[in-house]
Amino acid sequence: MSHWHLDYHGDHALLTLDVQGQSANVLSQEVLHELDKHLDELETKVLAGLIIRSGKTSGFIAGADVREFESIDDPARATEFARQGQQVYARLSGLPFATVAVIHGFCLGGGLELALACTYRIARDDPGTRLGLPEVRLGIHPGFAGTVRLPPLVGDLVALDMMLTGRALSAREARRRGLVDEVAPERHLLNAAVAFLKKHPAPGRAPWYRRVPAWKPLRQGVVKLMAPRVRRKAHPDHYPAPWRILDLWREQATEEREAESLGELLVSRSSRNLVHVFLLGETLKRLGRAQGHDIEHVHVVGAGVMGADIAIWAASKGFRVSLQDREPEILARAVKRAHGFFKSKLKDARAVQEAMDRFMPDLAGHGLKRADLVIEAIVEKVGPKQELFRMLEQKVRPQALLASNTSSIPLEVIGESLKDPSRLVGLHFFNPVAKMQLVEIVRGAKTSEAALARARAFTGAIERLPLDVKSSPGFLVNRILMPYLLEAVKLVEEGVGVTTVDQAATQFGMPMGPIELADTVGLDICLSVAEELSGPLQVEVPARLRELVGQGQLGRKSGRGFYAYDKRGRRQKTPAPEKIAVDVPVTERLVLRLLNEAVACLREGVVADANAVDAGMVYGTGFAPFLGGPMRYIESLGVTGISHSLYRLAQEYGPRFNPDTGWSRPELFHRRAADKA
Ligand code: NAI
Repeated sequence: MSHWHLDYHGDHALLTLDVQGQSANVLSQEVLHELDKHLDELETKVLAGLIIRSGKTSGFIAGADVREFESIDDPARATEFARQGQQVYARLSGLPFATVAVIHGFCLGGGLELALACTYRIARDDPGTRLGLPEVRLGIHPGFAGTVRLPPLVGDLVALDMMLTGRALSAREARRRGLVDEVAPERHLLNAAVAFLKKHPAPGRAPWYRRVPAWKPLRQGVVKLMAPRVRRKAHPDHYPAPWRILDLWREQATEEREAESLGELLVSRSSRNLVHVFLLGETLKRLGRAQGHDIEHVHVVGAGVMGADIAIWAASKGFRVSLQDREPEILARAVKRAHGFFKSKLKDARAVQEAMDRFMPDLAGHGLKRADLVIEAIVEKVGPKQELFRMLEQKVRPQALLASNTSSIPLEVIGESLKDPSRLVGLHFFNPVAKMQLVEIVRGAKTSEAALARARAFTGAIERLPLDVKSSPGFLVNRILMPYLLEAVKLVEEGVGVTTVDQAATQFGMPMGPIELADTVGLDICLSVAEELSGPLQVEVPARLRELVGQGQLGRKSGRGFYAYDKRGRRQKTPAPEKIAVDVPVTERLVLRLLNEAVACLREGVVADANAVDAGMVYGTGFAPFLGGPMRYIESLGVTGISHSLYRLAQEYGPRFNPDTGWSRPELFHRRAADKA
């Protein structure tokens, strides 16, 4: 017995979970087994009640131990795993006295299901308290009776929304929805729990009108209404979990059905890959937290698309930020944007004001003298960047870290103007900063370890994922993406419709088609990255791209690119997809160029291993998460098959499809366990 601690206080018992060797409580089979043993004892006691709480400062219970999922490879065993959990929770809910879960911090997945098995729930009233069922993000659904217990408590539409989106609720929202019975400040939590045991009010239940959708004749109709919304987010072939949630609800499923369905999902390809992606993200998060940082003030130079967003994001995460640009109007625009962002993100008026106070437009660059980190995000041209860094080095404090957000200029070239290039690192953010979690941490030939460690720690502190990459053309993400984008443009040049190309990619599982992506990033930026890469990587830049840029059609920002956009940047209706000759393998051409480049990056050591490629592409571009990333996809199709397809395409479409020599080096495809990457 080492994870749970059971004490008796007068007429009630207090059961505290403090999982050994972990900073957060996660439910492994061992932890559940131990709970079961305590229930043996508790069932024999005469008590006024039981209080369950966490001994961790980080929160209540963050969910099941996801690493255990990977060792389960047979649906029957997965079903058994769910059944065991259900049985333990059923015993908890069947205790002959009342039970209260006292919740703070994360209360997610199996943790929330445990709380649902209690008679009452009390949550700590602070912004850190988050209650939710995020299983759908791992390609599964709740399996410890959550799908059965949640709807009657909060009402069917709220329950479905929570399970389908995986969205977590704050303590107050949970109180409003009936998910918790009371919220209380830290110091009153235990007293409130004892009071519930004493008064023993009737357990919570959603009012009848919130249970109307559950009336049998209405269920089918409700599912029909919800299906289009689900379909927009999750194709049933790629992401079966939300569809299973709808099925279970429509069938008014029992715990038995829930366990069976979970068993099937847990071993599905989609879930396996989503778990892989989740663990890769956790690994990068750990890297971001591996070391503390001494950065308080960030100075950003260049308040355009990227600079403004980086500055706004950093300020929203608590950093003091000064933002410099040559143009006062651009700074004014950035301030307006910041205010809008803080208002939508932070909601509370005081928090918005505090964030605005931390965010300083700085035309003259006064912030430089105080900065611990300077991030350059000016035009993508060597001359101006070198000149800027020469000036920066003279003005900043000696310990300040210098970073560039360049997407294509080698760090060594930018650093030529510095006396001490070891303090220069690449911090390559992705657009839009608030959405794309990845930041490439670019190591130049002269970058010091200390500079890299600080850059990673800063990235972690602003809740982005740091990925180490070598300074080489396009780094990892743009380099892999570019051949795919250029192939898309080439297909359009050949007469394939833009929507046909984009649909091929979205059907494959990309969040957005390559043509629309190019329009969104900006065709001028695509062209400059493509030109930068064309020499070293021998990629051919399609004439159509040059033509559009030459005509000032730069994509979404100019109102026209491959598509037309309205003033608010929304894509105008395009004609129905054109019929194309069946013999143009659109998807294959797009995807195989991407995979070929991914292998080339591994061969050249742009990143450490296959896991880093997957993490970069999923978190930097949204590459089909249900496929687990390019390398995981290659693994599932087989190396030999893909390299043969590349040969075939090379014969038909030219040498750009020649398989990279890396395909014949099996060691490149080996991966360490995701959590050890
Ligand atoms: P942008 O053209 O929107 O913004 C550049 C800003 O820098 C302008 O506001 C300009 O007035 C200002 N500026 C230029 N020279 C300056 C100087 N010497 N001092 C102060 N301000 C100056 O450019 P964008 O798109 O924000 O790109 C900036 C950098 O970020 C580039 O290196 C680009 O390659 C990189 N990047 C761009 C991405 C994108 O999707 N747009 C994605 C990732 C990186």
